[in-house]
Amino acid sequence: MTATGLTTIGFIGAGHIGSQLARLAVAHGYRVVLSNSRGPETLADLAAELGPQATAATAADAAAAGDLVVVTVPFKNYLQVPAEPLAGKTVLDTNNYYWERDGRIAPLEEGSTTVSEMLQAHLPGARVVKGVNNIMAADLTTDGAPAGTPDRRALPIAGDDADAKATVTALFDEFGFDAVDAGALAEGWRFQRDTPAYGVRMTADEVRARLAEATR
Ligand SMILES: NC(=O)c1ccc[n+]([C@@H]2O[C@H](COP(=O)([O-])OP(=O)(O)OC[C@H]3O[C@@H](n4cnc5c(N)ncnc54)[C@H](OP(=O)(O)O)[C@@H]3O)[C@@H](O)[C@H]2O)c1
Repeated sequence: MTATGLTTIGFIGAGHIGSQLARLAVAHGYRVVLSNSRGPETLADLAAELGPQATAATAADAAAAGDLVVVTVPFKNYLQVPAEPLAGKTVLDTNNYYWERDGRIAPLEEGSTTVSEMLQAHLPGARVVKGVNNIMAADLTTDGAPAGTPDRRALPIAGDDADAKATVTALFDEFGFDAVDAGALAEGWRFQRDTPAYGVRMTADEVRARLAEATR
């Protein structure tokens, strides 16, 4: 039995972050259904590495299969994420806006919305939680530690649905990280690129302090 009570995690995106989260998920007893933009056959090596708990599918099928679904794609592609099969599901959004990769997106440049609010607007039936956006992919499998470890690394989350945030908090704890609730999805800018909480190793107290320090 997993700590979240969930069985299957779907992945929309199986690159640096998706593959690392899939490794953690398999190590903690989840089934994973992986997808990317090029098709399941291109995920054969990763699926083989992950073993019998892993399968590769289309994005729509990965979305349908997951009890929880991770969306981890270059942000410019977020409108391609299948919305209908994600209705009612907790969606973990790891995405960041990099204008160099994604092109200039005016509302994000202006600060009138955030990456995860844009994903939520595209997935109106889903319960989007922002998280895992401020840690380097490689650190996910090296920096985790059991609950109660002094100086355990902590990761901020943001979301509008308390139950979805509780699920993600339990998942992070199982994967070796404290979660710190930064508030509603609209607060996600507090740990986006170029903020004090972005990309650095922090304890829970340090995350809280850096979220408070952030300026838009
Ligand atoms: N790398 C990091 O350390 C890091 C850390 C925190 C957050 N992030 C953020 O997390 C997101 C993913 O980053 P990453 O480094 O994992 O990117 P990545 O290595 O480039 O992988 C992106 C994945 O998304 C897939 N993808 C692209 N368009 C898709 C679509 N329409 N449907 C399904 N899958 C699609 C790609 O598939 P194909 O290869 O087939 O195109 C690939 O598997 C980005 O927003 C990034 O800014 C990255």
